[in-house]
Amino acid sequence: MNLNYKIKNEKIVIFGHKGLIGSALLKEFKLRGYKQILTVSKKKLDLLNLKKVNNFFKKNKPKLVVLAAARVGGIYANNTYPFNFLYENMIIQNNLITCAIKYSCKRFIFLGSSCIYPKFWKKPFKENDLNLSNLEKTNESYAIAKISGLKLCENYNRQFNNQLPNFITIIPPNLFGPNDNYDDKNSHVLAALMKKFFFAKQKNLKKVEIWGSGNPKREFLYSEDAAKIISDLVELPLKKIHKYTKGNFSHINIGPGVDYKIRTLVKIIKKISNYNGKIFYNKKYPDGVKRKLLDVSLLKKISPESFDKNLTKKKNFEQKIKMIYEKLETKTFKKNKKNYSLNLSI
Ligand SMILES: NC(=O)c1ccc[n+]([C@@H]2O[C@H](COP(=O)([O-])OP(=O)(O)OC[C@H]3O[C@@H](n4cnc5c(N)ncnc54)[C@H](OP(=O)(O)O)[C@@H]3O)[C@@H](O)[C@H]2O)c1
Repeated sequence: MNLNYKIKNEKIVIFGHKGLIGSALLKEFKLRGYKQILTVSKKKLDLLNLKKVNNFFKKNKPKLVVLAAARVGGIYANNTYPFNFLYENMIIQNNLITCAIKYSCKRFIFLGSSCIYPKFWKKPFKENDLNLSNLEKTNESYAIAKISGLKLCENYNRQFNNQLPNFITIIPPNLFGPNDNYDDKNSHVLAALMKKFFFAKQKNLKKVEIWGSGNPKREFLYSEDAAKIISDLVELPLKKIHKYTKGNFSHINIGPGVDYKIRTLVKIIKKISNYNGKIFYNKKYPDGVKRKLLDVSLLKKISPESFDKNLTKKKNFEQKIKMIYEKLETKTFKKNKKNYSLNLSI
């Protein structure tokens, strides 16, 4: 089963198209001229519901599937609602992966996360470093769900597909961009910091409180840059990926391969926002893992054209943050609508 040049005529479905990466992927696939792009909102199709997911696949029979829908959140949400993060992500991915297999999907893209790699391990993480030991406690549930989705994809390729990686998992670092989540309790570090400085400036606050010591390092990728890389990988012949992974695994790290201290990030946003007050690092809050830089040498080998050198430049990173920050002026910050009740899909 290999994809050919006709790929843009195939029916592609992007689950989670209103989210941070899903919306960037929708934009990218439209730009590339895909002719049959399907999307469906959570209101119309709750992916926790297997019967409804099955009906969707039965009716539409998509050949390409990108799963960008998941229970996602920052350190607070992950640490406070571990049941939701484990249960919902496992059910969503099980439902989607099994239906994609049942309805003969040619290419399935699952999105993982850099938190799948062990906490105490040399950095940067290579794909082979996935060894299931000592995950970071604050996002352990999310990581276990992601690892099990990755393994479902990998073992499907291994057992039923001659080891050809039809089902691949892409591991991005922290993402940021349009349609990010700015909720106080659910957002990721970059969105949370931008919002803090935005309001501190608006309200003329004397100090900004940052959770944790500010010493951990994080790697960031702009969602639209991530969407370009992911789309390139969707279009790549399977044999090219197989050549480098040899059927031993089917996940690929993506990202700039460069990380920054949270303190550096704080300085960048402080400058962009023109904020002159004080910064207070509140060490009562957890830092999370110290570093989780990804090794992207496999991506560079498999798809060298996907790796834009600008990604590694600090100036480029600062410009992207500035671009997003400037849009905050016109943004309406909605109250948290995430539901963490016991939503069992049975
Ligand atoms: N953001 C990052 O930094 C990052 C980094 C690495 C990997 N990833 C991965 O990328 C993927 C997408 O992340 P993201 O940041 O784009 O997330 P996001 O902005 O929160 O978007 C996720 C989307 O999934 C939808 N969704 C959640 N539960 C659903 C359900 N039961 N049925 C239907 N739709 C559902 C959400 O709808 P509602 O908003 O209505 O709930 C939302 O539109 C995830 O797999 C994540 O692990 C993200």
